[in-house]
Amino acid sequence: MLMKIFFKFKNLKYLFLVFISACIDNAPLDSLSPEGPYARSIDELFWLTFWIAVIIFVLVQGALLVSVLLFRDKPNKPEPKQVHGNTKLEIIWTVIPVLILAFIAVPTVRTIFDLAREPEDALKIEVIGHQWWFEYKYPDYGITTANVLVIPSDRPVRLEMWSNDVLHNYWVPKLNGKRYLVPGQKTYLNLHADNPDEFWAQCGEYCGLSHSKMRGRVISLSENDFNLWINNEQQNALKLEDGSLAAEGQSVFLNAGCTQCHVINGVWDTQGDRIAPNLTHFAARTVFAGAALENNKENLTNWLANPAKIKPGTFMPNLELTEAEINALIAYLGTLK
Ligand code: CUA
Repeated sequence: MLMKIFFKFKNLKYLFLVFISACIDNAPLDSLSPEGPYARSIDELFWLTFWIAVIIFVLVQGALLVSVLLFRDKPNKPEPKQVHGNTKLEIIWTVIPVLILAFIAVPTVRTIFDLAREPEDALKIEVIGHQWWFEYKYPDYGITTANVLVIPSDRPVRLEMWSNDVLHNYWVPKLNGKRYLVPGQKTYLNLHADNPDEFWAQCGEYCGLSHSKMRGRVISLSENDFNLWINNEQQNALKLEDGSLAAEGQSVFLNAGCTQCHVINGVWDTQGDRIAPNLTHFAARTVFAGAALENNKENLTNWLANPAKIKPGTFMPNLELTEAEINALIAYLGTLK
């Protein structure tokens, strides 16, 4: 009995936690605060449907309360008139919901088609899902990057997406709804941010051990900043020849096994795709490891020492690097701007 009460109390506590979590103001994955036209059209549809549901709820519950109070059984009161099987009433309360649904269907279908249409001046970007990170390719510019999706704020982008392994789901709550990334099949999603800003993304489909760490950042830039970013990304990394710590790190990169999976354009180019993020401009990215970690020295040290401790199941192996090798690698990664 005591255990039962305890469990009830515990569950209430969790319910309370869920309730107060809605009060958080730093909520980068909040789908109720749209910051672009696509997310806003979904939001408007949601609120329209919500308020219609509220009106129906109040009317139905009100009618129920009135019926219960007015017609409840009292001593010496005759049984109220029975309406079971009344054809007229049956037709009325069947037709009303049909009309309500038909009314909601109009903006719903329109929004679905609006969201699916390819915008005329859209920039095409490819999104490839991997366990557990997102890869981005800009076919018009010959750029390959990861974890941080950089988009222009002055025009929409059209994402062409697929998965390299299992089902993933691309979701930037402030910019649009979710869309699946399917192995062997292309899906499409439009993004457009109102202003230059940073947004959070999250894989929205369970895809294995580190699904929760499969995150992303979307950075929208003004036209000028976006062009600068493109120009920088198109540059190859320089091959270091000096005797600096960074040059030592470059030789760790080339000899310790990193090249099995990673590419650094201009230093280690390969034909075809590799299974890990392209590191050519690693230092220009604010996050790494599926956007699970901020790009700083402490996080890099922990990650390189034991990747699976941070992302369970990750395909990045523990290369048993020494502290000196890790420090040199971090110095080298810092030059990849
Ligand atoms: Cu990818 Cu969950």
